[in-house]
Amino acid sequence: MPGTTPIKHFLQFSDFTRDEFEYVIKRAAIIKRKFKAYEVYHPLVDRTLMMVFEKSSTRTRLSFEAGMHQLGGAAIYLNTRDSQLGRGEPVEDAGQVMSRMCDIIMVRTFGQDIIERFAAHSRVPVINGLTNEHHPCQVLADVFTFWEHRGSIAGKTVAWIGDANNMLYSWLQAAEVFGFHLNVSTPKGYELDPSLVSTSRYTLFDNPSDACAGAHLVNTDVWTSMGYEKENAERLKAFDGFIVDEDKMARAASDALFMHCLPAHRGEEVSAGVIDGPQSVVWDEAENRLHVQKALIEYLLLGRIEDN
Ligand code: CP
Ligand code: NVA
Repeated sequence: MPGTTPIKHFLQFSDFTRDEFEYVIKRAAIIKRKFKAYEVYHPLVDRTLMMVFEKSSTRTRLSFEAGMHQLGGAAIYLNTRDSQLGRGEPVEDAGQVMSRMCDIIMVRTFGQDIIERFAAHSRVPVINGLTNEHHPCQVLADVFTFWEHRGSIAGKTVAWIGDANNMLYSWLQAAEVFGFHLNVSTPKGYELDPSLVSTSRYTLFDNPSDACAGAHLVNTDVWTSMGYEKENAERLKAFDGFIVDEDKMARAASDALFMHCLPAHRGEEVSAGVIDGPQSVVWDEAENRLHVQKALIEYLLLGRIEDN
């Protein structure tokens, strides 16, 4: 339960140091191994995770809920529709109240300012389960997935093709933390917001195919993120030519991986041949949400532990 030391939150990727990520990644590998071996590992008996969803989810809800259960704790799901959040209860009040009843909280919401305000009033750690501006848990899972397949991502080149969205901003923060480079190609009118970028470890490309050249990892995401649905028709036109297909993958390194955080739209941002092809690691990325988030929760609640 809450003490007097400052509370550690995970609201964006840059909240952790490289050393902390390296620890969490190492723990994720150990926790994954235990899970695969059906080893009972219950360090969080009687601890409760509260999950607040203001947007839809499959992977985030399942991975947090299953993960907390597997660690011996419990998880409670709340959404906007069924809670007082949907009837205008101030987010500051929600942070106060919820954090007096549980040990850790995950929030998926709209603006990053909302989760920041929530966390400022929370007595327990808060994890960002996606905002308009960031999706740090997914990028943590993706970096872990890269590490499993190819080793360290430091010094590598990652191509980002498509929308300048929450995933890209978290990837940019990861580039700064881990020391890799991003080749970014977004359509005209959907460029990066410089106020959300605090690294120089990226290069902008007008031509998405050129951005893939020599990349060790090619990454994309939906063209219309949650909350932007009204722009869908306009975006479909603007993003024409930005599909990650076999031709673009052929420009990347011969052993390049393909990632997508899912859900995906085959024939829009990615061809079926690429997402279902041999370079795609999308199912590993999805599964690894479970393992890295268990390691993250363990770290936020218990600090560094030596168990193997
Ligand atoms: N990738 C991801 O966060 O998926 P969900 O929206 O299904 O949680
Ligand atoms: N960029 C997408 C990610 C979904 C997991 C969105 O925000 O909808």
